[in-house]
Amino acid sequence: MRKRFLSLTLALSVLFPAYGAKAKPPEGGWVFDGSPDYPDFTRVVINRTSGTLSGVITSRWYGDLPMQDLRAAGDTLVFKINNGNPRLTPSDIVITADDKVLRMKGTLWYQSFDITAHKATKTELKALDFPTYPLPPYRVVAQKALALTPPMGWNSWNRFNTEIDDKTVREIADALVSSGLKDAGYVYVNIDDGWQGKRDANGVLQPNAKFPDMKALADYVHSKGLKIGIYSSQGPKTCGGFEGSYGHVEQDAKTFAEWGMDYLKYDLCSGEAFYHTRETVYASYQQMGEALAATGHDIVFSLCQYGRFDVGSWGRDVGGHLWRTTGDIEDNYARMAWIGFDASGKPNHTGPNGWNDPDMLEVGNGGMTTDEYKTHMSLWALMAAPLLLGNDVRTMTPDTVAILTNRDVIAVDQDTAGVQGLPVKKDATHEIWTKKLSDGATAVGLFNRSDKPITITGSWSEIGVGGAKEVRDLWAHTQAHAETDYSYTLPAHGAALLKVH
Ligand code: GLA
Repeated sequence: MRKRFLSLTLALSVLFPAYGAKAKPPEGGWVFDGSPDYPDFTRVVINRTSGTLSGVITSRWYGDLPMQDLRAAGDTLVFKINNGNPRLTPSDIVITADDKVLRMKGTLWYQSFDITAHKATKTELKALDFPTYPLPPYRVVAQKALALTPPMGWNSWNRFNTEIDDKTVREIADALVSSGLKDAGYVYVNIDDGWQGKRDANGVLQPNAKFPDMKALADYVHSKGLKIGIYSSQGPKTCGGFEGSYGHVEQDAKTFAEWGMDYLKYDLCSGEAFYHTRETVYASYQQMGEALAATGHDIVFSLCQYGRFDVGSWGRDVGGHLWRTTGDIEDNYARMAWIGFDASGKPNHTGPNGWNDPDMLEVGNGGMTTDEYKTHMSLWALMAAPLLLGNDVRTMTPDTVAILTNRDVIAVDQDTAGVQGLPVKKDATHEIWTKKLSDGATAVGLFNRSDKPITITGSWSEIGVGGAKEVRDLWAHTQAHAETDYSYTLPAHGAALLKVH
C-alpha cells in the first residue's frame, strides 16, 4: 500500500513538476517526541548537500544509522536502515513531514514504530549526540591458562531467559552439588542476560532488584565449591535490552572482579551496529580482555559474536578462552543438528585454553527426544565443546541425569589433547566422526541423521581405526572385542559413541 502511494507520488511529481515542487522533503534536525524502548530512536537529521539528500537516525541501541537507499518524493522520504545484523533484511521506512511535525513509520527487526518528531534547536540536537569512545590500538592480550580443557558448568539463558534471580541461582548451585553434576565436572554457575540494573552516580553498574547483593551471591556459590560467571556486552544495550558496558568497559571489569566473578560472557549485541569490521570487533574484545587482565583476577573470557570475522583465528589474541561459532542454539533437533554437524567451527582453532563454542546445551529442556539429546551430547563431546548446561538442574528426569553425568562421554569432551573430532564418512542419512584421544584411543561417533532407524555397517580400517582391539560403547556401557567390521542399528536421529583402543 505504502509502495503504491509512493509510486503514485513519484509519478505525479514527474508528470506535474508543480506537485513535487509544493511539497518538499523534510530537511534539518528533528527530535522524536517518543520511541519504543527498542530501538529507542532519539533524533533524525536530514541534509541536502549539492542537491543530494542524506540522513542519519540516532538510536540509543545502535548509535548513528545512515539512511540507505534513500528515495524522495513530494514531502515523503523512503529509505532503509541497517543495524549491522546480517540476519535481518531491512525494510522500507517512510518519513513524511510538514513544517512542524515529522512522522516516521516502519519496522526494525521485530519492532514496528509510528512516531513523531518536532523541529529541534542545535542545542537540543547536540544533547542527543551518541557518545563515542576510542578503542585501543591493536595489541595481543596474554591469555591466562584458565581453560586447559573445555569449560563445564551451567548457564541461565536457555531455560530461564531473562527470568532469572538470586534465589534461582542459589538453588541451581545447590542442585549442581546434590545431583552429582558438580562431581561430574560442571563447576561454573553463569548468570546470563537479565541481571543488570542501572548505573549509580559514579557510573558503577548495579544489579536489578532480582539480585539484591551480587557479592553475597558469589560468596554463596563459592561456598559450594563452585565458580560463578556473569554476562555483559560491549554495546550500549545487551541483546535483552539491559545496560551494556559501552563507555564503562574498565569500570565494569573491576566491578565484576570485586564481586568475585570467575567468568564473563561478552556478547556483541547492539555493538554490532558500529563495531562491524574485523578490526573494531577485535578491538572491542581486546579492550575487555585487557580490562579483565588489569583486575588481576582469574576470569574466563567467553566471546559471543556469533562466529563473525573468523573469530577462532583471533579469539586467543584478545585473551579469550572460548568463542561462539554461530547464532543461538534452540531446543529442537534441526537447529542443534545444523550447529553440531554443519557449523561447529574450524577444528584447527580449538585446543587447550581456546575453544570453538557451538553454544550451550539444551539437554533436558524437553524439545528433543532422549535419542536426540544423546546425539547432542555425543557431538559436543566429539567437538571438545564447552559443556554449559542449559536446563533446570533442580528438576531433571533420570534420563537427563544419565546423559549429563555420563563420565565416559564427559571424558571424551575433556580429553587433554583438546582435539576437535571430524566426520570421516557421511551420506544423506548418516555420519561417522572420529576424534583422537590423548591415551592413543579413538572416540568414534556414529550418527543417524534420518527420522527412521538405520543400520550402519562398515570396516574399522575404512574409518581409520584399523587394528582395533577393544570397543567400549559409551552410552550402552558395554565392552566388546572388535571384529574387522562393525554394525550398529541406530534409532531415528540417534547416535552411538564408542571408544576404540
Ligand atoms: C544472545 C546470545 C545468547 C544470550 C542472549 C541474551 O542472543 O547469543 O546466548 O546470551 O543474547 O540476551
